[in-house]
Amino acid sequence: MAIFVPDGTSDEFDALLDQLRDIVPDAFLDGELDRAALLDALGLDEDSKPAFSFMWPGIEQARRDARVPTTVTLKPDDDASCHWPDARDVLIEGDNLQVLKLLKNGYSRAVKLIYIDPPYNTGDTFTYKDDFAVPERQYLEETGQVDDKGNATTSRIETGGRKHGPWLTMMFPRLVLARHLLRRDGVILISIDDNEVHHLRLLLDAVFGAENFVDMMTWRGARKGDAKLTGGGQDYVLVYARDRSYLKANDVRWRERKEGLEPIYAKVQDLRTQFGDDFEAMTESLRDWYKSLADDHPSTAHAHYNRVDEKGVWFPDNISSPNYRENLTYTWKGYHPPAKGWRYERATMERLDTEGRLVYPEDMSRRVQVKSYLHMREEWAPASVIYRDRRGASASLDTLMGAKVFDDPKSTDVLARLFHAITDDGDLILDFFAGSGSTGHAVWEQNPKDGKTRNWILVQVPEEPDASEESGKNALAAGYKTIFEVTAERLRRAASSLQQDTLGATQLGFRIFRTRPTNLVIDKPLFAMPEMTGQSYLTQVLDHTAGAPVVEGAKPIDVAWEIALKATATRLDASVMTRDIEGVTVFEFVPSDADALSGRLLISLEAFTLATADALNLSDDDTLILRGDQVEDSVTLTLAPRLQSKLILLERVPREVSL
Ligand SMILES: C[S@@+](CC[C@H](N)C(=O)[O-])C[C@H]1O[C@@H](n2cnc3c(N)ncnc32)[C@H](O)[C@@H]1O
Repeated sequence: MAIFVPDGTSDEFDALLDQLRDIVPDAFLDGELDRAALLDALGLDEDSKPAFSFMWPGIEQARRDARVPTTVTLKPDDDASCHWPDARDVLIEGDNLQVLKLLKNGYSRAVKLIYIDPPYNTGDTFTYKDDFAVPERQYLEETGQVDDKGNATTSRIETGGRKHGPWLTMMFPRLVLARHLLRRDGVILISIDDNEVHHLRLLLDAVFGAENFVDMMTWRGARKGDAKLTGGGQDYVLVYARDRSYLKANDVRWRERKEGLEPIYAKVQDLRTQFGDDFEAMTESLRDWYKSLADDHPSTAHAHYNRVDEKGVWFPDNISSPNYRENLTYTWKGYHPPAKGWRYERATMERLDTEGRLVYPEDMSRRVQVKSYLHMREEWAPASVIYRDRRGASASLDTLMGAKVFDDPKSTDVLARLFHAITDDGDLILDFFAGSGSTGHAVWEQNPKDGKTRNWILVQVPEEPDASEESGKNALAAGYKTIFEVTAERLRRAASSLQQDTLGATQLGFRIFRTRPTNLVIDKPLFAMPEMTGQSYLTQVLDHTAGAPVVEGAKPIDVAWEIALKATATRLDASVMTRDIEGVTVFEFVPSDADALSGRLLISLEAFTLATADALNLSDDDTLILRGDQVEDSVTLTLAPRLQSKLILLERVPREVSL
């Protein structure tokens, strides 16, 4: 039998200590952590300091923020949701720091891709807050540069950190928690601009490891022609893998379909009608057509595919091997091999020759080439530079919402391309700075295109729209009290518009959960002080245990969800069946992936009896969670040997701390 006590102290430490105990048992010889032994095992001494590290005032606070346990829960809101019963996608209202802590049990190592677009800390106003700077005096005091009378304690006053420090303190714990949720082949993509890109990269190096850096993509938007110095207009997408060496070992390749293919195919089709089998004329016309395109036309990236034959558009590709191999250095039809040999073995060369794919120059000293057809090379690695003017995304969102209610949403087509390249069928995508919900919309757009089912979790704080901004004013006028309500409505409208476009396709929907104060009574830890008598200690214990472990008036289904999330690995897309067994309500949580199920999860907050257990056909594989103050000891004593640690009692006795 296990006891579940929501005691408000950190069990993060316990989990970490357990892991350390497992890896370095000799640092725990007396049961307690021997700090010196641990440092010794790591080859460090007490005074060891890293030669190079990234610090800012506030890092200690940021570390604490990551560790402190959460005292909130997620409350389901069926009414505001869109097709709750079948929905697998989830929109969560709340501060993402709290939410990430609540996702830890159910989603540890479960997320394939995290995309976030946090506030950039520009200091400007948008629909949301984008200024993290603290007042100068506060910063100087907090960093000990002035005393409480305002007198300088140093000759070199530094104030730059007052802008960046608080932003880093906000980001650090969120990134630490987010990393836990990523699968081993998972990846995080973060949009950012020049205000914080340099700090964010160092921060990500610290949290994810510099060795897991993949790329700093540039997203080119509209250039500012009237800028005083340079045109700007770009921001960045930092890409880090959870474990880059794992991607390498598994030969993971991210691929996306090239842009600009359709216009080329259409042109070749026209030329075919015009010139029939005169491929020379077609080739000449195709080259003229490429020249007529604007520089930023997506087809220009493929302008080297400028020859046409009966099989399609091609270019003569190099046929030299990149690495020397003896079996590749043979003479082919009188042509000498390149220095490192041919790219193909003899058998492949023979096949290519039969297919008419080899191009033989008249001059035998020149190289044989291979015809590389565009239709055989439609995919490539996602580009590190993305060209997309953001005004298009804003205009689409304004049209969908009937007014401008959110500033600068991300383009769903760019996000969809990235999701297509990096994720696969069944993958989960998380965005915990959801804004207007572009990530969810993009996943829905992409799924039918490549026939895959990806799901999403989005988190958005119920921040009030900034009334000093046009978008904020419009949002408030339209009745959206919070940005979260904008997110939810955008996704409802997106679902309905995409549904119309793809009649008969899977029903789009999402569940809404809202962050609310806990339904469980969280006691402070019991302190056994040396001077306490047995009686005063007992009184303290009785005071704590007398009351109910659940807050009065809490809705049973909300309590059940909270216990399921905090005491088990239940996910938010589970379905809940409510049973009434002779007056005792039992909630059964069924995961969406029921195949992976080894037993049922049953939660009852009422006077559960052995008869209830019989009526449920309780099996040894089932997990049963009961309220300690509601069940007879005889029931738990009978069930405990059968269910062992799968019988969990919700209790109010806090952990004892000896001082
Ligand atoms: C740059 S916007 C994201 C825009 C989004 N990518 C889109 O396309 O609409 C950042 C969003 O993060 C939200 N946000 C800021 N702090 C948050 C927090 N602690 N938890 C959840 N959301 C937060 C802001 O309200 C804002 O909507």
